[in-house]
Amino acid sequence: MKRWQHLWRLLPVALMMLALTGCGKPFLSALDPKGEVAEMQFSLMALSLYIMIGVFVVVIIIYTFVLFRFRQRPGQENIIPDQVEGSHKLELIWTVIPIVLLIVLAIPTVQQTFVLDDLKSAPGNEGKQTVEITVKAHQFWWEFEYPGLGVKTAQEAVIPTGANIKFDLTSVDVLHAFWVPSLGGKQDNAVASSNHLWLTADETGTYEGRCTELCGASHALMNFKVKAVPPADFDNWVASMNAPVYEDVSTAGQDVFNQNCLACHAVGTEGGVIGPNLTNFGDRDVIAGYLEKSDENLERWIRTPHKVKEGALMPGFAKLEDQDMAALLEYLNGLKVQ
Ligand code: CUA
Repeated sequence: MKRWQHLWRLLPVALMMLALTGCGKPFLSALDPKGEVAEMQFSLMALSLYIMIGVFVVVIIIYTFVLFRFRQRPGQENIIPDQVEGSHKLELIWTVIPIVLLIVLAIPTVQQTFVLDDLKSAPGNEGKQTVEITVKAHQFWWEFEYPGLGVKTAQEAVIPTGANIKFDLTSVDVLHAFWVPSLGGKQDNAVASSNHLWLTADETGTYEGRCTELCGASHALMNFKVKAVPPADFDNWVASMNAPVYEDVSTAGQDVFNQNCLACHAVGTEGGVIGPNLTNFGDRDVIAGYLEKSDENLERWIRTPHKVKEGALMPGFAKLEDQDMAALLEYLNGLKVQ
């Protein structure tokens, strides 16, 4: 008994851990599904959880019962209980029950694996809109290309609600992994091959995504978003991305951009492809994937990118004149298509 009496000291730690599980914004949870795919996967998790709880409860009941029913009583000190060696009945029971439980788990799992591999052809999905997006992972940002729609963007994928979205996943450098917890399970972005992943969003909203494969110094900052909009808004977005019309373009800023940034970053179809396409940079919610949008943060990112995101390939523009920087920020913030 003495051994256990200091265990109460762990109580505050245990309570703190319990309290911390409730912390943080609830946007990164697979337990709050927001689309058909996430719901299917959640139901599989729930099924296995219920089976596990059932097994646990039954085992604990039998264990407790045996503990009390067959304990040694006064006067039984020298009695050796009946020894059981092999029981066909018992062995049959504890073999058949797990087999049955595994079959109960296997049927929906295998069935849904086939559905999730080709959601477009799944029963009930005939006539649903399908959008394909090629996802190229880079150290440490995400590139989204919409083949057939002529759209290229970065960091924030826009999708129509209710449609089946097929993400074709690749990487240009090392292994990354694509995960949008509210919309469904994750999949690797490999260098030499292409994986695919179907996701759907029932409701409009912005869904947080993460890279879930350790890919270098700024792996933890390799965040992205998936924005689900009504189908009509999606069509408008595609049209605007194809022929962006910007209000009040800062021509001084555009000159600075063309001199310093255009070799790596494209706006529309013009410009380099090494860095993220910035056609709709002004519409994005964050800078460099995770920084709150403000002129101060944007300037810090442009001047000292390696302090903001270690290992980023972007060169720093520490020496840019203040006046040029102000014009550049104005130009970048004005790149809005929505
Ligand atoms: Cu990309 Cu971790």
